[in-house]
Amino acid sequence: MKKRVTNKYKVKQPSQRAVRRGGHMSNIETSSQKTTTPTILDFFAGSGLVTEGMRGLFETVWALDNSSKKATVYIANHGQEHFKLDSIEKIRGSEIPEADAAWASFPCQDLSLAGRMDGLEGVRSGLVWEWLRIIDEMNRRPKLLIAENVLGLVSAEGGEYYRAIHKALQIRGYKSGAVVLDAVKWLPQSRPRVFIVSVPKEFDCSRFSMPFPGWPHPASVVRVGAGLADWIWWKMPQPGQKIRRLSDLIDKTAPCDCESKTKQNLAMVPSNHQKQLLQELANGFKVAAGYKRTRNGRQVLELRFDQVAGCLRTPDGGSSRQVLVLKKEGRLVTRLLSVRETARLMGAPESYSIPGTYNDGYKAMGDAVAVPVVRHLAKSLLLPLMRALNEKN
Ligand SMILES: C[S@@+](CC[C@H](N)C(=O)[O-])C[C@H]1O[C@@H](n2cnc3c(N)ncnc32)[C@H](O)[C@@H]1O
Repeated sequence: MKKRVTNKYKVKQPSQRAVRRGGHMSNIETSSQKTTTPTILDFFAGSGLVTEGMRGLFETVWALDNSSKKATVYIANHGQEHFKLDSIEKIRGSEIPEADAAWASFPCQDLSLAGRMDGLEGVRSGLVWEWLRIIDEMNRRPKLLIAENVLGLVSAEGGEYYRAIHKALQIRGYKSGAVVLDAVKWLPQSRPRVFIVSVPKEFDCSRFSMPFPGWPHPASVVRVGAGLADWIWWKMPQPGQKIRRLSDLIDKTAPCDCESKTKQNLAMVPSNHQKQLLQELANGFKVAAGYKRTRNGRQVLELRFDQVAGCLRTPDGGSSRQVLVLKKEGRLVTRLLSVRETARLMGAPESYSIPGTYNDGYKAMGDAVAVPVVRHLAKSLLLPLMRALNEKN
């Protein structure tokens, strides 16, 4: 994959206009002082699960993605009025509506351990600089910024990528903190993600923060945040919801593999997992999820027996779709996760429409942000912060 040449590692400076403004948050105002529901811009909106999680809390007034397939999913669920199908590189800040907040779930491929790790120089993850350019170009910058990505953002290269973004936000007048929220606290899917939340430097956020790390700050975040200027340890309540089990989400209408395909899949299960499967069968086994991986030059199907699915990924490679082993009518069968199951694993409502092929649907969900995670963050931190930010002015 070609590298993004324009941004190298250096933090982009604010535009001349922003520099003239002093790059300070005195210029950060919003349109929503008139409205009760704060407004938000959904950059890299994909299939719309961020907007879904924000429903009733923040109103999405503009959303952007350059994938026509994802756009179909977004529009089917949220309408097309505020959706823009284009590349972020073509967007000018002066063209988009003012809003209280801006969210960017920027592409993760260059930060993901499974990817090539070109980092923030990569052509995909480097698009975060385009987001910041647009913020610079806006007549009034949003008061609240949220950037979301995989754990590599804080853990890779000794935290270098996080620090680069932190510095870019500082230059623009924001102070920030990162929290890690794993979807497994709400859903039967292991999906840890980093959320950087930024507010104007002059805003007193002592009500919303702690002097030390808490539960959303794993060691990687503590390492990167400790001692950093303009860093905030955000305070959030733990989720109290009952977690559903993988077996609660099974799509009973999904067709299973034929006998020979099932046999072939089960033969790929490594011997230690086969042993565990036999033990589970004696204890009312219902379902296990797993990925096919290459180990020592051989393809194996590794299962997990904790009633949780592995992290959904985009099905670009044949081995990246998750396989289920189920007990059905007294025997074991296998099949790929259905699209409806991927939607359930992301916490999308049953009514969420996912048009397109199997791969389109799987990709739309595999790339998204889990709905209850967005909702918890929005309810317990972003909305209270936004109200306080708007009260201040
Ligand atoms: C991590 S996904 C975001 C998913 C989304 N927040 C959701 O919940 O469905 C990153 C998104 O960035 C989009 N994207 C990649 N390159 C882009 C570009 N140049 N301009 C706009 N969007 C782009 C992809 O199509 C993808 O939907």
